[in-house]
Amino acid sequence: MTEKFISIEGIARSYPKPGGGATTVFDDLWLSMARGEFVCAIGHSGCGKTTVLNILAGLDAPSAGAVIVDGKEIEGPSLDRAVIFQSHALLPWRTVKGNVAYAVSSRHRDWGKAQIAAHAQKFIDLVGLTGAETKRPAELSGGMKQRVGIARALSIEPKIMLMDEPFSALDALTRGTLQDEVRRICATTGQTVFMITHDVDEAIYLADKVVLMTNGPGAVLAEIVENPLPRERARADVHKHPLYYAVRNHIIDFLVSRSKSFIAETGASYDPRHVPIMRPGLPEPAVTPVPGAVQHEVVHRRPGTATVRDGPGSAAHR
Ligand SMILES: Nc1ncnc2c1ncn2[C@@H]1O[C@H](COP(=O)(O)OP(=O)(O)OP(=O)(O)O)[C@@H](O)[C@H]1O
Ligand SMILES: [Mg+2]
Repeated sequence: MTEKFISIEGIARSYPKPGGGATTVFDDLWLSMARGEFVCAIGHSGCGKTTVLNILAGLDAPSAGAVIVDGKEIEGPSLDRAVIFQSHALLPWRTVKGNVAYAVSSRHRDWGKAQIAAHAQKFIDLVGLTGAETKRPAELSGGMKQRVGIARALSIEPKIMLMDEPFSALDALTRGTLQDEVRRICATTGQTVFMITHDVDEAIYLADKVVLMTNGPGAVLAEIVENPLPRERARADVHKHPLYYAVRNHIIDFLVSRSKSFIAETGASYDPRHVPIMRPGLPEPAVTPVPGAVQHEVVHRRPGTATVRDGPGSAAHR
């Protein structure tokens, strides 16, 4: 059984409507993640992805249900869970180093200045910002600001990274570079990641699993798509994998058509506690024979012929 490092247990979130009543963004959502897993969530705008992420971060509380992290229910924000927002949310009056060092000092209150500076520098180097330490956010490009956000999140060495469309505002080249860096860093540190994206290729490149969310209100987790790509993957080879297009088409087909019709089609048979796990392009897992079990005779019957028996003791086996 998969270890439940993060366990989302029946969470709901609703908001009061201006004229009375309430809008339910989602209701009874269940999802678990193992330690070191990289999970991407995909779904249409407004379905509730950021709401889920904010609840995981402890920045928002569910109307019902709970989130358990490492055996403990979360009750608010924690330095164990770092968030990378789409908008960089840097302190404008602090330099690159100042922004990262500030996060480090809030994690390690007993550290001296030199130790904080050395630790911050390590993460500034890691995201490729060596040389830009003394610049303030206003002097940085969008990609550089996002790197500071990533360095700041990593520098507190969180148990979990929560990323809300971290690369969506960047140009394609910068996005690719930062995706590579995040992949490398997460693989090296064994980071557990929950990331929201609208980019199917980004999800396939980065994730171990892709969670597909239906349209809201009343969104559900329709499927968990297991990524068949090996964990060791290179950007240049991703599209050459024999199952790449099966996975990509499956996700795109969901976004284009099934995200709207999923609830009507599955109806009462949908069980939010057991979200179907999909392996596009792969056959259903074979039933493995149970050792010591009675071996059944296989009977082939061809039209117009006598029965041909295949099995231990049959003519075919002599
Ligand atoms: N404070 C709020 N009051 C009322 N409704 C809200 C509030 N915050 C979010 N919502 C509603 O909850 C729903 C989910 O919002 P959320 O931001 O989680 O969507 P999302 O999936 O992240 O969308 P996007 O892809 O556009 O970022 C939306 O319909 C939104 O209007
Ligand atoms: Mg959002």
